[in-house]
Amino acid sequence: WRYLAFVLLKRSLYQSLCAIFCRPLQVMEFYCESCETAMCLECTEGEHREHVTVPLRDVLEQHKAALKNQLDAIRNRLPQLTAAIELVNEISKQLTDRKNEAVTEISNTFEELEKALHQRKTALITDLENICSTKQKVLQAQLTALLQGKENIQSSCSFTEQALNHGSPTEVLLVQKQMGERMGALTRHAFPEQPHENSHLDCQVETEGLRRSIQNLGVLLTTSAVGHTSVATGEGLRHAVVGQNATVTVTTKDKDNELVKTGNAALRAQISGPDGTVTKTDITDNKNGTYEIGYTLRSEGEFSFSVLLYGQPVRGSPFRLRAVKLCDAPQSPDDVKRRVKSPGGGGGGGGHVRQKAVRRPSSMYSTTKKKENPIEDELIYRVGTRGRERGEFSNLQGISTTSNGRIVLADSNNQCIQVFSNDGLFKLKFGVRGRSPGQLQRPTGIAVDMNGDIIVADYDNRWLSIFSPDGKFKNKIGAGRLMGPKGVAVDKNGHIITADNKACCVFIFQSNGKLVTKFGAKGTSERQFAGPHFVAINNKNEIVVTDFHNHSVKVYNADGEFLFKFGSHGEGNGQFNAPTGVAVDGNGNIIVADWGNSRIQVFDSSGSFLSYINTTADPLYGPQGLALTSDGHVAVADSGNHCFKVYRYLQ
Ligand SMILES: *[C@@H]1O[C@H](CO)[C@@H](O)[C@H](O)[C@H]1NC(C)=O
Ligand SMILES: *[C@@H]1O[C@H](CO)[C@@H](O)[C@H](O)[C@H]1NC(C)=O
Ligand SMILES: *[C@@H]1O[C@H](CO)[C@@H](O)[C@H](O)[C@H]1NC(C)=O
Ligand SMILES: *[C@@H]1O[C@H](CO)[C@@H](O)[C@H](O)[C@H]1NC(C)=O
Repeated sequence: WRYLAFVLLKRSLYQSLCAIFCRPLQVMEFYCESCETAMCLECTEGEHREHVTVPLRDVLEQHKAALKNQLDAIRNRLPQLTAAIELVNEISKQLTDRKNEAVTEISNTFEELEKALHQRKTALITDLENICSTKQKVLQAQLTALLQGKENIQSSCSFTEQALNHGSPTEVLLVQKQMGERMGALTRHAFPEQPHENSHLDCQVETEGLRRSIQNLGVLLTTSAVGHTSVATGEGLRHAVVGQNATVTVTTKDKDNELVKTGNAALRAQISGPDGTVTKTDITDNKNGTYEIGYTLRSEGEFSFSVLLYGQPVRGSPFRLRAVKLCDAPQSPDDVKRRVKSPGGGGGGGGHVRQKAVRRPSSMYSTTKKKENPIEDELIYRVGTRGRERGEFSNLQGISTTSNGRIVLADSNNQCIQVFSNDGLFKLKFGVRGRSPGQLQRPTGIAVDMNGDIIVADYDNRWLSIFSPDGKFKNKIGAGRLMGPKGVAVDKNGHIITADNKACCVFIFQSNGKLVTKFGAKGTSERQFAGPHFVAINNKNEIVVTDFHNHSVKVYNADGEFLFKFGSHGEGNGQFNAPTGVAVDGNGNIIVADWGNSRIQVFDSSGSFLSYINTTADPLYGPQGLALTSDGHVAVADSGNHCFKVYRYLQ
């Protein structure tokens, strides 16, 4: 550190000395590159004697050009910033508008409520008045009758008393006749002495519940979710099967990437086809910050799937969505599972794998017999179509060859092994579906050892089964150790090497099943894998592994030491979109099936790209296993087309 301090001190001194002492007097004509400073002639011979100094004029142009480049670079950012400013301003303005609209809505709603309250009050009072006046009428009528009766009695009384006290005998007789009848009637008369009405008239208004309702009346809806951090996940984002429901989950997040836990965000999704047709989507708000988008596509092809949150695209939107007919759906079950399980390619992989290429109707080809190449590409013949019979396949995966001119295939979804001659004639089929030793559940990889025994990697049974050349079960190995073996190969020492796709690990066994060694783990470093699929052995007895989600091919020695790798993600020469099958020819050339790009590439023994196999006339669809026939051709399992093909190459 002392040296460092010294250097720094010296450098700053040099930079400043000339500036302090000479600059006012001398012309700065020179430039010291190590000190990045201008200086005068004297100083080039002084402190900067040992430094490279050049005339200032020379570096000036250079520096001007550099500055100009930088200027252009930052100036180029201006349009982006202008656009961003416009956008944020627009959102700010919309926010104010929305607020004002909401205020108006609140005022209107409450005014209406007040009006309704007032109306109800008036109605209640009116009813009250009406009831009261009806009751009063009854009571008044009763009163009138009673008063009338009382007055009649009183007047009869006073008249009769008058006659009794002061009347002449004639008058009394007269009165007795007249008043006697009248008083008799009054005595018998039934007056309405019981009240004809009651005074019951109350008003009861139950306000407790209403008051509570009013206190909670109205909620404000908003979230802090923004498009650029929110994510859409799910198989349905990239792949769909025509006529089947597909879903995508959107998880909303705020600017700091925190999950938003409330719903009601304005989410829109649109799927548009190449011809401009728009497919309807259904959005379900889970009310916890996640949303489900459901849709069903009616035709196959490439679609653009845009997901907008508050008008802004969520991360990665618009997505490229590919819809296929049911039988064209991706064929590698472990890949499908992986995609579903780890959206965004979380497993060290490079995101979603998309498949290219078209499927031709298989009716174009004969079923079990070989077909000569109708157009001149490098195809020699093709065998197979989808089915369960001899020479028919369902998602065939592994392929291997024997020195005596046989091609053996792992017919994965038919749980069987099929054998053909080098010229494509069917020879043998064996295998029974099941989970017991000797049965097959999902055969994916296949290899033939020096004795002609057939070794089958069974992905779902999690072991390797060994069969005699005529299909008799002999032994199983690796049970209890393997988690999902996909590809298998046999090396020059008779060791059995398998790529365990699930464990991201390569296992090396003796032929009796004893473990020699294993290497690899999940990851992206040299001795790690992001989904190893197939293995091959080169002429130096080295192990060549395709790393599906790392889009590369990795080469190790027999002890598992890393030697080199090649390939990266892409569509260019020597790039991969999920490599699968691999084989090495007699010259050490490495031939690789490029699953997602649906092509086969040829590399030299050091991994330099040499060429493609020309498959244009009859395109591949998701090629898997690959092997070299004893007569020097490439045999490939064309899984998506449910056939195998044999090609010439490097000719
Ligand atoms: C597909 O979705 C529609 C509406 O979203 C629903 O009515 C239908 O039942 C669904 N079909 C299946 C097979 O799930
Ligand atoms: C949100 O709700 C959905 C549907 O009820 C549920 O499946 C999901 O797990 C919930 N997500 C969270 C993060 O709570
Ligand atoms: C592949 O084969 C087709 C058919 O013969 C031919 O038209 C095409 O040019 C070939 N492509 C290349 C790259 O050689
Ligand atoms: C592939 O592995 C390399 C290191 O071997 C790593 O740098 C790269 O990120 C990986 N790529 C992917 C797509 O996983």
